Amino acid sequence: MRGHIPFILATAFLVGGGNAQQAGGLSDSQKLGQRLATQHCGVCHFHIQINSTASYGPLLSQANFDNGRDAELKSVIANGGPNMPGFKYQFEPNEIDAIVDFLKTVNPPGLGVGK
Ligand code: HEC
Repeated sequence: MRGHIPFILATAFLVGGGNAQQAGGLSDSQKLGQRLATQHCGVCHFHIQINSTASYGPLLSQANFDNGRDAELKSVIANGGPNMPGFKYQFEPNEIDAIVDFLKTVNPPGLGVGK
């Protein structure tokens, strides 16, 4: 994981800037989710440069939760996937809920994309 630290820092910067126009409107839960997602998810799920099309995992936005996928996606966050670590030992259920609350404020296609 050591090699990922520069990406995490770069992502934190991008996410902070990219959502500046939304920041005032976020609830406490959404703000907690924004902080956790920036720290723990951005390295794989957000574009690492504005003009980069690369992200390791799928871009995440409110579109991922279409068709009532909340429970399924919370399970992915808790248990992980073939190429994603699970977070159930790291986060309380309310923190996973907070991340979902935040991701639902993100317009498609996802964070770090051309904003
Ligand atoms: C090491 C890279 C990595 C990290 C860190 C990571 N993910 Fe993932 N995530 C993936 C990959 C890759 C997938 C696609 C499924 C697979 O191959 O496991 C995925 C899939 C998902 C999905 C399913 C998307 C869909 O529509 O099916 C969600 C939701 C998700 N991740 C949320 C998160 C959240 C929230 C965090 C932070 C708490 C996070 N991920 C951290 C790599 C990562």
